[in-house]
Amino acid sequence: MTPLRWGLLGTARINRSLVPALRASPRNELAAVASRDAARADAYAREWGIPRSFGGYDELLADRDVDVVYNPLPNGLHAEWTVRAARAGKHVLCEKPLAIAVEQVDAVAEAARAAGVVVAEGLMYRHNALTREVKAIVDRGTLGELRLVRGCFTFPFTRERDVRLDPALGGGSLWDLGVYPIGYARLMIGAEPVEAHGMQTLGPSGVDLAFAGQLRFPAGVVLQCDTGFRAAFRREVEIVGSEAALLVPNPFKPGPSEPLHVTRGDERETITVAGSEQLYLGEVEDMADAVLLGRPPAVSLDDSRGTVAAIVALLRSAREGRPVELA
Ligand SMILES: NC(=O)c1ccc[n+]([C@@H]2O[C@H](COP(=O)([O-])OP(=O)(O)OC[C@H]3O[C@@H](n4cnc5c(N)ncnc54)[C@H](OP(=O)(O)O)[C@@H]3O)[C@@H](O)[C@H]2O)c1
Repeated sequence: MTPLRWGLLGTARINRSLVPALRASPRNELAAVASRDAARADAYAREWGIPRSFGGYDELLADRDVDVVYNPLPNGLHAEWTVRAARAGKHVLCEKPLAIAVEQVDAVAEAARAAGVVVAEGLMYRHNALTREVKAIVDRGTLGELRLVRGCFTFPFTRERDVRLDPALGGGSLWDLGVYPIGYARLMIGAEPVEAHGMQTLGPSGVDLAFAGQLRFPAGVVLQCDTGFRAAFRREVEIVGSEAALLVPNPFKPGPSEPLHVTRGDERETITVAGSEQLYLGEVEDMADAVLLGRPPAVSLDDSRGTVAAIVALLRSAREGRPVELA
């Protein structure tokens, strides 16, 4: 089988996680990189041993020898360049969040449908054994009826200039990190939220540096989540049922072996789950399954749309200081 030839749209830091995964996968290979700056593309290609480089994203999209584009651009550019790539006939693995407006997700879906290409959001934890085990525990009813999910992702962010602080590029902690607890909770609950309450602390550039949100789901299940660039490092999910609670200490970037803790009354059971050595391998293999074997990607565009809709509602709630209903 001829491997899929990938092109990187930009020299983003996150490429460092994807490139080793592409190299570990026999069905994928790294063929090209583009940068807004030709010299940067050139230097990057030499540093990473990438065969071709382009001094512009459109040039990479015009290259017939690229099958799949990886889009790690700033959040506010995800939808625009994913649509452009799809129109150029490329399959796209797009970094999270897929877009920063529901209408943008719809435009991506329409472009993918019209061009007959696969587009998926890169959510590495979705392809991991730990996530599958948590979902199985929830679906088996081990916790009883679901009542509450708590999820957080915060870290002290020290860079003074970064795409995450730029409101014009979809900056802010909720767009950067909210996809994790919100997407995780939607997966575990298996439903879409109906109401959003948000509260934010804005920084000097106008983006949220801290966000606390609550989403109400059908049957009274609630997600409480917080994200932030100014708090200590925390990354955790707790899923609370009518009979037991499950703590997932490392849900989003699981390593090769991760504990899960189930608390029932005074008893606490720890389950150890074996994961993958290569966290990002799952998403590139998933693209290969989708493109080469015609399987639906693990993260559908509808799924990505649900997370974007929830984030948009939370931000609106925080801005307007009132709860916001979701359609
Ligand atoms: N899945 C994960 O684990 C994970 C982790 C971190 C980040 N991410 C996601 O990956 C994406 C990139 O994050 P990052 O931290 O890697 O960002 P980054 O290092 O700042 O890279 C962003 C790249 O976008 C290009 N770019 C195009 N227009 C730009 C503009 N106006 N300003 C700045 N850069 C521009 C630049 O490439 P050129 O200059 O070469 O054109 C730049 O290298 C984000 O969407 C983020 O949410 C995902």
